[in-house]
Amino acid sequence: MRPCFLLLLSRCCSSLAFTGVGISSLAAGIDPFDWDTITPSDDLEYHDCYEQYKCARLQVPLDWLNETDTRVATIAMIKLPALVPDDDPTFGGSIFFNPGGPGGSGVYAMLSLGHYLRTTVDKPGRRHYEIVSFDPRGIGYTLPASDCFNGSLVSRDAFILESRGNGPLTNGDHSIAYSLAIMGAFGQRCSRAGDAMAFLRKRDAAARKQNEKGRAPEVQDSEDERDELKKRSARKRRPVELHDEPGDVPRLQYIGFSYGTILGNYFASMFPGRVGRLILDGVCDVEDYSTGPGWLANTVDTDEIFDTFIEGCAAAGPEVCALARESDTHGASDIRCRLDRFLLDLDQRPKPVLLDSGDAVIVTGEDVRSLIGLTLYSPLKGFKILAKELDSFISGNITKMAVLVLGLGAMPAMKDACPITNVTEPQLIGKIESQNAVVCIDGDDVTDKDVPWWRKYVNRQVSTSSVFGAEWATIRLPCSSWRFRPKWQFKGPFTTPEPDPSIKSGHPAAPILFLSNRLDPVTPLRAAQAMAAQHPGARVIIQEAMGHCAIASAPSRCTKRAVADYFESGVIPLDVSACSIECGPWDTSCSLDNATMTDDVDSQAAVSWFSSREERIWRKRSPLGIL
Ligand SMILES: *[C@@H]1O[C@H](CO)[C@@H](O)[C@H](O)[C@H]1NC(C)=O
Ligand SMILES: *[C@@H]1O[C@H](CO)[C@@H](O)[C@H](O)[C@H]1NC(C)=O
Ligand SMILES: *[C@@H]1O[C@H](CO)[C@@H](O)[C@H](O)[C@H]1NC(C)=O
Ligand SMILES: *[C@@H]1O[C@H](CO)[C@@H](O)[C@H](O)[C@H]1NC(C)=O
Ligand SMILES: *[C@@H]1O[C@H](CO)[C@@H](O)[C@H](O)[C@H]1NC(C)=O
Repeated sequence: MRPCFLLLLSRCCSSLAFTGVGISSLAAGIDPFDWDTITPSDDLEYHDCYEQYKCARLQVPLDWLNETDTRVATIAMIKLPALVPDDDPTFGGSIFFNPGGPGGSGVYAMLSLGHYLRTTVDKPGRRHYEIVSFDPRGIGYTLPASDCFNGSLVSRDAFILESRGNGPLTNGDHSIAYSLAIMGAFGQRCSRAGDAMAFLRKRDAAARKQNEKGRAPEVQDSEDERDELKKRSARKRRPVELHDEPGDVPRLQYIGFSYGTILGNYFASMFPGRVGRLILDGVCDVEDYSTGPGWLANTVDTDEIFDTFIEGCAAAGPEVCALARESDTHGASDIRCRLDRFLLDLDQRPKPVLLDSGDAVIVTGEDVRSLIGLTLYSPLKGFKILAKELDSFISGNITKMAVLVLGLGAMPAMKDACPITNVTEPQLIGKIESQNAVVCIDGDDVTDKDVPWWRKYVNRQVSTSSVFGAEWATIRLPCSSWRFRPKWQFKGPFTTPEPDPSIKSGHPAAPILFLSNRLDPVTPLRAAQAMAAQHPGARVIIQEAMGHCAIASAPSRCTKRAVADYFESGVIPLDVSACSIECGPWDTSCSLDNATMTDDVDSQAAVSWFSSREERIWRKRSPLGIL
């Protein structure tokens, strides 16, 4: 007799089972690191880790507003040291970055992106920075961890399977009502996970850490916090200082990607006097995120990118794009018709596939839309491959599509075996409760909304994007039963005083530099423009490309130069309003391997980041993140 049910999950032993990726798979050749070997400390104490990195476990109060509450959070921090020693005249200090999510792990991101980022910001011989990131609360190696399933993989997979079996929210009121019930049960489980969940707020993640290391408290801080900070700053710390401003309060140098732009916008609006340099790349509309039904402003350009994919495919022809046919007489619209017919058929008749491995997978139209949506994050690597896979699928070979769907982790496979084994690594991205804890607590309370309200919400999402709308509507759904409310919320205004390069208390040292691709599937250009308009002196530099986030999606010498100049001088280059990229998604004469990022820096870091994009395209990912 087998010890568990017939209906089990071939992947429950692998990290993909619960839609995350283990650390060993994130950066080939890097040995895992045992974070337990570091004793958490109140001071920032770095230890060697992951070969060339430094790691620290920083202890901070869980509740900063209650001095008698002695509970702590332990933040996992990681740094890629600068290429020069700290006392070198060209040392430019720390640049923090956040990879988005919500729920994204900075540790995970650092191991794959750190070198490329350092190459992007450095000016060889002139400026060299250390790159720092961290796992925000409830995420990755930071404690307390969020886990609504108390470590049970079977329970977690049952939840995933049941949600999936219920189908997309576009299936009608019954589907919505049942989804709300699933989320209700999930919410009840989460409420048993401990009230630390109520503290998984962004405020603690970025702002605190910087203040931790600072000496002077910021004017915006409450009395309680000021006392706490004074106490803490009395201890010896190595302050992170902007290179040019010794003697002043420490100021943050930061790059935020995607959801990380929300962190940056909150930080600047709450602590403008702590802003040194701020780059926000792949910009979210912070009002849409924090108030109202929420998450309605993200996908306004998504369908246009999909259209551009089809038009580009038709123009490139069958040699380059497998979906095009010599026999097509109407180019793009012929391709479109084939795809639409295929998806409609799949909606009506989902296909069961038995893989050689024994895994049974059911592929639905919604799965294929998800795969398409994910490809739009990385057109450079993804478009040609997407065309090939879709073509093979439409032509009747369903195997590869099933493998991709399985790989998404949104769908555990059915298999009559029970390979649940040791899972030794924490799951670093895409864990649903890490995401909910942030999304639900920062946004408006939607726990009293009924089925008709959600039906309208789903319809609005789908009318904004036919490709990604149904999927996007699920992000806020768990908030229908999220029982934690924050002790304290910041709802704006999201603005800053005039920047003052001569360093004036309470003013940013530089205007915020916003970056956006011309077409971004989840953080549209218009959001960047709207956010920039609220911060004096801020500007948007547009990268003439498609994909999610400028720096992360395509190599561009021009963007790199603007970024490195900005970090050095605090000035947004006036002569640059748009930047071209080195390669387009259908180019055959240009490969990323020879499109060197920079004239003067070893481009290996960029090449390895962009090459690794290919294998990441169809992994489960954070909706507003670069991984
Ligand atoms: C502050 O923390 C203490 C100790 O955990 C707790 O008893 C008290 O209720 C808290 N006060 C508030 C206002 O949350
Ligand atoms: C979590 O699981 C452990 C056993 O693994 C059990 O002792 C504990 O009671 C569970 N906690 C909750 C809240 O269910
Ligand atoms: C179907 O696709 C898979 C994976 O791409 C490939 O290995 C297999 O040979 C294909 N089968 C046929 C009949 O073309
Ligand atoms: C547990 O993990 C270790 C190390 O990855 C592996 O060698 C071992 O086979 C695993 N145990 C089982 C039962 O899979
Ligand atoms: C880049 O590589 C491609 C093939 O990978 C080659 O065809 C092309 O000529 C190269 N371009 C340059 C500028 O070296």
